[in-house]
Amino acid sequence: MRFGVLTGGGDCPGLNAVIRAVVRKGEKEYGYEFIGFRDGWKGPLEGLTMPLNIAATRGILPRGGTILGSSRTNPFKIENGVERIKENLAKMNIDALIAIGGEDTLGVATKLDALGVKVIGVPKTIDNDLNNTDYTFGFDTAVNIAVEAIDRLHTTAESHHRALIVEVMGRHAGWIALHSGLAGGASCILIPEVPFDIDKVCSYVKSRFEQSYAPILVVAEGALPKDGDLITKDSTKDAFGHVKLSGIGEWLANEIEKRTGAEARTSILGHIQRGGTPTAFDRVLATRFGLHAITAAHEGDWGKMVALHGTAIKRVPLASATEKLKTVDPALLAEAEVFFG
Ligand code: F6P
Repeated sequence: MRFGVLTGGGDCPGLNAVIRAVVRKGEKEYGYEFIGFRDGWKGPLEGLTMPLNIAATRGILPRGGTILGSSRTNPFKIENGVERIKENLAKMNIDALIAIGGEDTLGVATKLDALGVKVIGVPKTIDNDLNNTDYTFGFDTAVNIAVEAIDRLHTTAESHHRALIVEVMGRHAGWIALHSGLAGGASCILIPEVPFDIDKVCSYVKSRFEQSYAPILVVAEGALPKDGDLITKDSTKDAFGHVKLSGIGEWLANEIEKRTGAEARTSILGHIQRGGTPTAFDRVLATRFGLHAITAAHEGDWGKMVALHGTAIKRVPLASATEKLKTVDPALLAEAEVFFG
């Protein structure tokens, strides 16, 4: 059999580990051939490929990003997009696809599966918000990067008696904010799932200063004040209809200064959270996902996604990954509140 492999959406540490595992097991154990599609769905759409075999994947396990490239191309938004993909797969004698991505990439994979394209999905996102898998790889790396930043901010915040705000990624789900805030000893964690009360946030800031500590506030980019609007960078949307977020950290710093008189500054971690080498946890999870994905393909179990349930890798229907977003249960945030202020 001949497979096309692609990575779509925002990149994340561990993508190369999946590619390596799929190719290693597929070639070595099953004698399969692979072709790498460049830049997500743009690859099969425009016939953009690169060679993919064991030799091409040597040494990529610890490398961040994706050797295949990525994009947010949505073939369902392009005229004859699906027909062009089907034609290109036939022309290149590709029997099936391994699609590695988040809600958008796997959403496209789900629709293509329904239209007769053989596909297996692998879940990725630093946001950890894909349904029907306990964790996605990339999340652990992103959390560790955010925790290192928080640890560093504590010392400079204390030296200057400032409130420091860390804005982390998370459009609709506050997993990175919750985990990094808990691990980093934040004075307050703000997530999209629970609109916040700015007066309460300011009371946490004041009480932290009263204990002669300097507050660190962790805020997800999609967090919003009660009765307020989401703060966006501009009004442009990508091919999947997402607006660019960022700005809530700056807004908070201004409000805190105005309301408490304390100096406040914001650090936006941005794409630093997505770059660089994956943690050991993410390397192992990504590798296991890759191994199980090619086994599912070998068994002809099309239309499935590999998923982590407890410590086991299971196969679940592709459609279940995107039927809803896995958001943070507000009870988890409530658990952390004893550390606020
Ligand atoms: O979907 C993952 C994610 O990291 C979001 O948390 C974030 O809003 C978005 O990607 C940023 O995407 P881009 O790389 O297109 O700026």
